[in-house]
Amino acid sequence: MVQAEADSGLNQLFEVAPQITVGLLTADLLNLGAEVRSMEEAGVQVVHFDVMDGSFCPMTTMGPPWIQAVKTKMMKDVHLMVEEPLDKLEDYVKAGADMITVHAESTRHLHRVMQRLGEMENVNHPGRGIVRGVALTPSTPLEVLDPVWEELDLVNLLAVNPGFPGQSFLSHTRDRIHEVHQMIFAGGDPILVCVDGGVHKDNIGDIAALGVDLIVTGSAVFDGKNPAENARFMQEQVRTSAPVRNHY
Ligand code: DX5
Ligand code: ZN
Repeated sequence: MVQAEADSGLNQLFEVAPQITVGLLTADLLNLGAEVRSMEEAGVQVVHFDVMDGSFCPMTTMGPPWIQAVKTKMMKDVHLMVEEPLDKLEDYVKAGADMITVHAESTRHLHRVMQRLGEMENVNHPGRGIVRGVALTPSTPLEVLDPVWEELDLVNLLAVNPGFPGQSFLSHTRDRIHEVHQMIFAGGDPILVCVDGGVHKDNIGDIAALGVDLIVTGSAVFDGKNPAENARFMQEQVRTSAPVRNHY
């Protein structure tokens, strides 16, 4: 666990939570600069990069050059859906990741991966660490978090099976969100709860009401019509539906 006060990346996220983190996977990739600008103008603070290697999950998407090419003040939230990420972490840190989330199912050495991440420095903000997340697919028991609990800053609960945008939100994710909140309350640790996948205009209010800190949403924003307006709508839903929180 990284002390929130000692890691301003985590602090920054706690200050702006609850927030959407917008997935670029369904953006107009041949017009990406303009799509990123429209997110900044809409007030989006965090942008989500779904890195898929075609082995951990069916699709192959983007890698470090892609992430580095995106010039933005938004925080770069990198979701690694790749097999054995341990020796690949540095490339994503060099590409400017502010947050890196790895899948518990993708490595035999999850604790080592988290330790390695904990030694790395944010290239956008020298002296700052990398916000460290662990993601779980919908079928992975929460108990896998126990041995790395001290090493993580964020838990990402996937509400869809990884690999494809535009899926439906798996309803048992609600119970999992509640259970992770219980784990955090019991330990008193500054850990962010993120939910990822299947969040659209018609359910984001209900999901925000569960008290999550970060909500990944992609295809509901980049629908080919008005991404900036969609982003504003989604963020407003979060603002008006989230429970009142006492900031640390
Ligand atoms: C799962 C990815 C998600 C997904 C979100 O494959 O981790 O980030 O792309 O996309 P939507 O919001 O379309 O479900
Ligand atoms: Zn994702």
